[in-house]
Amino acid sequence: MSETETGLIANSADVLANPAKYRILTGDRPTGPLHLGHYLGTLKSRVDLQNAGVPTVLVIADYQVITDRQDPGDIKRNVYEILLDYLAVGIDPVKTTIFTHSAVPALNQLLLPFLSLVSLPEMQRNPTVKSELADSGQTVINGLLLTYPVHQAADILFCDGNLVPVGRDQLPHVEQTRLVARRFNDRYAGGKRVLVEPQALLSAAPNVLGVDGKKMSKSRGNAISLSATAEETAKLLKRAVTDVDRNITYEPEKRPEVSSLVLIGALMSGQEPEAFAAAIGDKGGKALKDAVTEAINEHLRPIRERRIELAKDPGALARILADGNARANAMADATLAKVQGALGMVYY
Ligand code: TRP
Repeated sequence: MSETETGLIANSADVLANPAKYRILTGDRPTGPLHLGHYLGTLKSRVDLQNAGVPTVLVIADYQVITDRQDPGDIKRNVYEILLDYLAVGIDPVKTTIFTHSAVPALNQLLLPFLSLVSLPEMQRNPTVKSELADSGQTVINGLLLTYPVHQAADILFCDGNLVPVGRDQLPHVEQTRLVARRFNDRYAGGKRVLVEPQALLSAAPNVLGVDGKKMSKSRGNAISLSATAEETAKLLKRAVTDVDRNITYEPEKRPEVSSLVLIGALMSGQEPEAFAAAIGDKGGKALKDAVTEAINEHLRPIRERRIELAKDPGALARILADGNARANAMADATLAKVQGALGMVYY
């Protein structure tokens, strides 16, 4: 294996050339429906990778919801919203295993030996955990917020995930997972490769902003949900921040808000951002917002229609989740057996 193949970040060309070499594990916290930022940043490429033949496991990370907030919200509802988003964009529940943390007890069993491999300062240094603590407005860290990256390592390692498509904020967690795997193999398995060190696959995430010009996020109320109606999308876009220059251009450094709108419009309509901007020319911010609204609504129309159809059959959705959870449990039990075997904890 070359240096890059063994490093933290995977080579995306190799993934497409050798899909069978890889196995994806990634996921989302069920804190609300997924939005355009998720779609452009990761959902679309997950579907492409799935369809290219990379075996895929998706975790709806319910236990991560309670890491940084007092009020978990309506977790059950949010789990089904995310499941609907996955299915509507083209995740195929036959090819791809979709599961929730809370349905897989072996994950928690894996957490204990993994915690023995990680030091307190290592956990305290994790920059993503630090910024989540700061964003939460809490002053002291709780035990789950401190340790969830190790639980996330169990997500990845239980299914032998060797490829983790994520944004940059998740890199410390993938690095942590690699350390856990390496240390486990060295310390408890006599150097045998019981656990596989995963690599991150960085999404070429386009930098799309919310309608207020800040990072798109559900909690800021500035996000265009996949599940929003065409009318809700139009209403949200009307509020979008632009600037005083009526001539629409694509200059991300100089004009971040206008350029983000241009980029969204371009990506949704399959054009280059410069061409999308030029077509609006000096017609101003209102024309830009109208064009972006139309591009989003056109692109998402089939996805939204599918989502509405799928939502009509809650029993079928429950069966999909139950089936995914059963498949995840089988994998997790097998990994736990290997881990306990290496530890000498199999007694009969
Ligand atoms: N921490 C991820 C997020 O907040 C969600 C997640 C949970 C995840 N388990 C994972 C991502 C395993 C990648 C791999 O978005």
